[in-house]
Amino acid sequence: MTTSKRIGRAEACANIALAKYWGKSDRGDNLTAVPSLSLSLDALRTRTEVVFDDRLEHDVVSMGGQEVTGRPLERVSTHLDRLRERAGFKLHARVTSENNFPTAAGLASSASGFAALATAAAQAAGLTLTQAELSSFARKSSASAGRSLFEGFAILDAETDQSQALAPRGHWDVAMVVAVITSGPKPIGSTGGMEHTKRTCPYYPAWQQVARSVFEQVKEGVERRDFAQVADAMEHSTRLMHATMISSLPPVLYLKGPTVELMHEIHRRRALGEPVAYTMDAGPNVKVLTTSAHVDATVAFLEETPGVQRVIVCRPGPGASTLSAAGPLLEAEREDKLQMPAFSLPSSAVRGTGS
Ligand code: PMV
Repeated sequence: MTTSKRIGRAEACANIALAKYWGKSDRGDNLTAVPSLSLSLDALRTRTEVVFDDRLEHDVVSMGGQEVTGRPLERVSTHLDRLRERAGFKLHARVTSENNFPTAAGLASSASGFAALATAAAQAAGLTLTQAELSSFARKSSASAGRSLFEGFAILDAETDQSQALAPRGHWDVAMVVAVITSGPKPIGSTGGMEHTKRTCPYYPAWQQVARSVFEQVKEGVERRDFAQVADAMEHSTRLMHATMISSLPPVLYLKGPTVELMHEIHRRRALGEPVAYTMDAGPNVKVLTTSAHVDATVAFLEETPGVQRVIVCRPGPGASTLSAAGPLLEAEREDKLQMPAFSLPSSAVRGTGS
């Protein structure tokens, strides 16, 4: 380090797993027990700035305009420690992070957050890393974040530190329409929920066995752009994962009444020929996969559904990118030169401190 201050900035999108992972490998290092396959979501983005500064006595982290302490701060510091070790210095950092969506809504803010953090921190540390190396750093903090480095469709392998792009975002003209059912904090976080499931669910070994073949079905469906195949396999992956949660003791039950109503309604509509399919993560919100041509009809029916507070349309998104260093963070340009809609903050009423 020749200067006392070094800055890095990056933007990353959230992602949604079409083939889920739930459970960590016995090998440790935050590796996953089953492979997963995701779609990057262009409407849900995080922007992060990292400044290593020799005047700081500890890391200072602000998310959504609020300084964070406790576990969220610890997770960021641990992440920075890995990059500091790789870069061979010990400077503390000031980290500023903003999401353009409500962070407490269970919309994968840790995925976009750690992908943006890894990219910004590596740039600030003067490290030149490949996407796969950045993905590995992000994955160690939040496994799903390992997928947010890549554009379009991405794969996170199981039991091994490997992730890769499957197909670029232009590969398939689909959309993911998010029906927000609750924007409150989760009753149990994903890491705790997975550990509990692994310990207490009698079906967990069966899930581990079947998850790989469901993953292969989703992968083949995406490669062939076969909506029906992806719809069936993605929903199966979702139900298998939630079945392990629900059959844990005590249960990990994220689904709410409107979630289950939507599962019925989406099933009914697909049987009538509509291209719609559901998936849910560690929360009650329903993400509906559809084709571009069917977005308006999907939004219309979701907005009319009782219990749905808000609908967010997401298209296949780009990978993480560094941002220009000049001017305000929220107005900085992507260094990959991709044109994206302006980054506007959610209203202060819905700001939270991360998932
Ligand atoms: O890696 P985490 O802690 O963000 O957990 C992600 C778990 C699910 O979203 C439920 C599944 C997945 O593969 O993204």
